[in-house]
Amino acid sequence: MENKIVAGNFKMNLTLDEIKDYINKFNVENENVIICPPFIYLPYFINKKYMVGAQNVAFEDSGAYTGEISPKQIKSMGITYTIVGHSERREIFNETDKIINKKIAKALENDLKVILCIGETLEERKNNLTEEKIQKQLENSLQNISNFDNIIIAYEPIWAIGTGIIPTIDEITSTVNYIKGTIKTLYKLENIKVLYGGSVNDTNVEEINKIKVLDGFLVGGASLDPDKFKKIIEVVVNQ
Ligand code: PGA
Repeated sequence: MENKIVAGNFKMNLTLDEIKDYINKFNVENENVIICPPFIYLPYFINKKYMVGAQNVAFEDSGAYTGEISPKQIKSMGITYTIVGHSERREIFNETDKIINKKIAKALENDLKVILCIGETLEERKNNLTEEKIQKQLENSLQNISNFDNIIIAYEPIWAIGTGIIPTIDEITSTVNYIKGTIKTLYKLENIKVLYGGSVNDTNVEEINKIKVLDGFLVGGASLDPDKFKKIIEVVVNQ
């Protein structure tokens, strides 16, 4: 079986001193571990024995886009991954599937690996609209994309992000199966990796990690503590 992936999304957290402290404590040697710090701290994480990712990426290579960072620039720093379409980008910064589609295309063109986040709201879950939402997100955001080798999907139910609420094992299993089935139907692709994200921590990861169809985790809050994050990684790696 291929190795599982564990990605840590720091979001807009930690100051420079905290980042330096983190790097000292985080002595992980594993290229299936990806740290996604805020952009300004990315250089501190390069050339370590784990991988590094951006949390977001622009949809053009260069030009008059104040405040944006392009995939070409990210790649030029020696960074391998970028998250695209996180629900916070979609909800707070109004990113649509169309924008996300452009970002994915440009990121792949620049040889970056993409972690595409998808997932439903609580209301959609309650109204049995999870599969419909996910199908739409996959269809729209992956339109005209052909290089799936560099795409990983992160299933992140919005109601589970930062809330401490985790879907049941059955809910995660069936949604991940649905994602893999949809990718197979739409794009004739058998082995796309699907991660789970949303309130994963060092105490619940062991249980969720038993889900066989899962290929790893995208961790937010619990990745901010290097010791907790190392525990999560150990559980997943030693399974
Ligand atoms: P959380 O965030 O682990 O803090 O719930 C996950 C994410 O947003 O990727």
